[in-house]
Amino acid sequence: MHTSPTDLQEIIYVSTLATGAPVRFVADIAMQARCNNRQADITGLLVFDGLHFCQQLEGGARDVAATMARIQDDPRHRNVEVLHQGPLDQRRFRRFSLGYTSVEDIELLERLQRLKGQAAVQAFVDLLSGLDVDG
Ligand SMILES: Cc1cc2nc3c(=O)[nH]c(=O)nc-3n(C[C@H](O)[C@H](O)[C@H](O)COP(=O)(O)O)c2cc1C
Repeated sequence: MHTSPTDLQEIIYVSTLATGAPVRFVADIAMQARCNNRQADITGLLVFDGLHFCQQLEGGARDVAATMARIQDDPRHRNVEVLHQGPLDQRRFRRFSLGYTSVEDIELLERLQRLKGQAAVQAFVDLLSGLDVDG
């Protein structure tokens, strides 16, 4: 599927693993997401700190919106909060239908949770520079 550059959108959100949900859910989520995202030509990154998620999704505007709508309704996490949503000139993660990484510093995503818009984008980009991403 071809995404015209002008149609490219990104979303960055944070959320919290559902109360009592086993951490092994995260592996199921990543597998399911990779399969769906490949079909919809969505790329992005999921960061997990053992409790919080931060995910960036990028792709065609309609595909990103449809995926985000499903994610928002997923009972495996709660407190889903979109920090940034907007157009993107070029993809940040060409190689990953869903890159995945875990972080040990629990304050990293808690800090990100308090940011909005461009400040959130910048904090996300800064976070990436220190990460070892597994595509
Ligand atoms: C933290 C988190 C991240 C997710 N990321 C994605 C994603 O990137 N793409 C996706 O299709 N589903 C993702 N999901 C799963 C969706 O919420 C939903 O379960 C799934 O898209 C339904 O797929 P299906 O219609 O193939 O069953 C995520 C769920 C959670 C909790």
